[in-house]
Amino acid sequence: MNTHKIAVIAGDGIGPEVIAEGVKVLNEAARIDGGFNFEFTYFPWGCEYYKETGRMMAEGGIDELRKYDAIFLGAVGAPGVPDHISLWDLLLVIRKSFDQYINLRPVKLLRGAPTPLKDTPREDIDMVFVRENTEGEYAGSGSWLYKGKPNEVVIQNGVFSRMGCERVIRYAYELAKSQGKTLTSISKANALNYSMVFWDQIFEEVGREYPEVKTYSYLVDAASMFMVKDPGRFEVVVTSNLFGDILTDLGAAIAGGMGLAAGANLNPERKFPSMFEPIHGSAPDIAGQGKANPLATVWSASQLLDFFGHEEWGAKLLDCIEEVLAQGKALTPDLGGTATTSQVGDAIINKMNNK
Ligand code: NAD
Ligand code: IPM
Ligand code: MN
Repeated sequence: MNTHKIAVIAGDGIGPEVIAEGVKVLNEAARIDGGFNFEFTYFPWGCEYYKETGRMMAEGGIDELRKYDAIFLGAVGAPGVPDHISLWDLLLVIRKSFDQYINLRPVKLLRGAPTPLKDTPREDIDMVFVRENTEGEYAGSGSWLYKGKPNEVVIQNGVFSRMGCERVIRYAYELAKSQGKTLTSISKANALNYSMVFWDQIFEEVGREYPEVKTYSYLVDAASMFMVKDPGRFEVVVTSNLFGDILTDLGAAIAGGMGLAAGANLNPERKFPSMFEPIHGSAPDIAGQGKANPLATVWSASQLLDFFGHEEWGAKLLDCIEEVLAQGKALTPDLGGTATTSQVGDAIINKMNNK
């Protein structure tokens, strides 16, 4: 039996609620298929753990996670724990330690999903973001000097290494080439006169190896405008860590909302485990009420299946999400329905059994 060992970090807020549905759906795929199965190991890490122990994850947590084939994460962050601590000591340390330098975030308007963009054909909202995920604006380089003094000063450096830029840009070119899609780079070289000039240069350099890929390059401000006014321009998109973070929330907004936005943090070499998670946060405003939409997590589960070579199941899950959306009977309040988180999971399971 082909067993996939998955470390589950359900985390905070709605994290455990949506992860329960993701696990349910993955187990059902394995049950129906019969050719593979999952072994889930739960880690109780997150803000509650922090309040009890002063740590976001156990000591040696990274070494523990290294033993797994993948990580399935819900969300991290809770009132009472500073966000920069909860995120740096759990989510970001995992992305960095396991060199998950590709953050793959589809922005695709599924059949039945709502968009606030009037007069935009559904097919025009179909792109995938390749976000740099280990350095750039998130390098964590800087300092805080003379704290609390009149001459207080903070410095937050962007760190763009040649290796870091080349590998994410090359990955995006390969993806665009393999899918026969265009590739758009989003940067900001007019203002960020070192980092983004360098990024643009590398985009061009690597591009010489891919004459068959048609490319575009936009400044991030204009790109934000085009994502709303003319999203059909974008197919495969490559961008830096911070720009990718912001633009994929915008992407979520045009493609059904945060409840439908999925992401995969990949270490393409498979030297370390990759991590699959919805891109939304812990949503403290709706936590514990059964209102969270689990479909982003189910979509991330579909990315996990793809990554393990079960592409047929990855595609089937996406079909099931689309069918549930199009049917409109089992939808959470963010999509205008009254169903609970677990009823949406059940609806997916039901569709899986009718395939
Ligand atoms: P958020 O994504 O948690 O919530 C933004 C809005 O979207 C809220 O109104 C929320 O109710 C809604 N929403 C999000 N996911 C939803 C879902 N599945 N179904 C229905 N509605 C959903 O962002 P925020 O409020 O800025 O952050 C809350 C906390 O989460 C903070 O502590 C933040 O640092 C953290 N955060 C964590 C992650 C992560 O773990 N990957 C990502 C983003 C934010
Ligand atoms: C995301 C989140 C994280 C990020 C935060 C919580 C550190 O917003 O995954 O989009 O900025 O990468
Ligand atoms: Mn984000």
